[in-house]
Amino acid sequence: MPVITEIEDLKRIYKRRVPKMFYDYAESGSWTEQTFRENVSDFGLIRLRQRIAKDMAGRSTATRMLGQDVSMPVALAPVGLTGMQCADGEIKAARAAERFGVPFTLSTMSICSIEDVAEHTQKPFWFQVYTLKDDDFMKRLFARAQDAKCSALVITVDLQIMGQRHKDIKNGLSAPPKLTPKSIANMMTKVPWGLEMLGTKRRFFGNIVGHADGVTDPGSLSSWTAEAFDPSLNWERIKEFRSWWDGPVILKGILDEEDAKQALNVGADAIVVSNHGGRQLDGALSSIRMLPRIMDVVGDKMEVHLDSGIRSGQDVLKAMALGAQGTMIGRAFVYGLGAMGQAGVTRALEVIHKELDTSMGLCGERSIADLGYHNLLVPKDFHDHWVQPA
Ligand code: GLV
Repeated sequence: MPVITEIEDLKRIYKRRVPKMFYDYAESGSWTEQTFRENVSDFGLIRLRQRIAKDMAGRSTATRMLGQDVSMPVALAPVGLTGMQCADGEIKAARAAERFGVPFTLSTMSICSIEDVAEHTQKPFWFQVYTLKDDDFMKRLFARAQDAKCSALVITVDLQIMGQRHKDIKNGLSAPPKLTPKSIANMMTKVPWGLEMLGTKRRFFGNIVGHADGVTDPGSLSSWTAEAFDPSLNWERIKEFRSWWDGPVILKGILDEEDAKQALNVGADAIVVSNHGGRQLDGALSSIRMLPRIMDVVGDKMEVHLDSGIRSGQDVLKAMALGAQGTMIGRAFVYGLGAMGQAGVTRALEVIHKELDTSMGLCGERSIADLGYHNLLVPKDFHDHWVQPA
């Protein structure tokens, strides 16, 4: 068993183990991938302020997200096709999250269905929906999530049309994978992955196949998004979705102050400052760079979480010190899942927890609530290096 000390270790194993098509799906940004890269590199521009001889004993990373106790402010983000990264992937990730004491978010584009995940876990999870045209399907999805006792609804608001990821098109991404000479040749080098996949019946989009009508190719993410997603989405419609859910609603995919204000107006309980992991608008600024501006307008009125670019506990610390009340990780847990199944997700959470806990201590802090700007050193113009042309 290799020694895992950082998220990058899990990524290396993941890359070896999982078919290229699914590795590429997770590891892509849209177009030139500038935003995808800057999500990570902008965290590197922020430095931490070392303090010594402060009482660092009895530290805790525990806090609350959306009124829920969490062992650290890190939820698992909704990630499509998670059950293709590893057989029964959503169930395994949800189990790892509940044991660790952090929220798991199930994607609508999951392989294991809502009911299946609920049946195989003990604690309520969060459920993610897209903004689709089909009211019947949406209402049924909401009802299914409510029946499964999901404790929050995450509405993805930055994917009414889909950004292009070149590799997915070139690979012919689908779930289950289409059998072409290229995909077969690649899968033949991924024997443990394939054997596990053959051993499960969960190989289709569990929330969609058999539930949504008129889908031409239910295995293709891009054709489903083109057919089912609502390009004419507006705030009235988001307000309508909000009114259908009896419980906390998180709007994921806010990257602009004006949109943050609108999110507040439609009654969202929280937002996730996010550019969808750099998978939508290439050229958008990183989430961490946009966070302070958004905190300025809504930070004292609603809960603000952040995703896109978090690969370490230090990144979590930086987001929290800039004011976020929580974060989400996507790729960081997928690497663990693809590498080692449920144990790999647990390992990813342990790595991030240890980094967060130790770095907090070295910054002279004992609790998440005490983190703030005083822990950071940032370039003078970090908040406003990029401005709108006058
Ligand atoms: C779906 O939300 C994706 O980013 O692929």
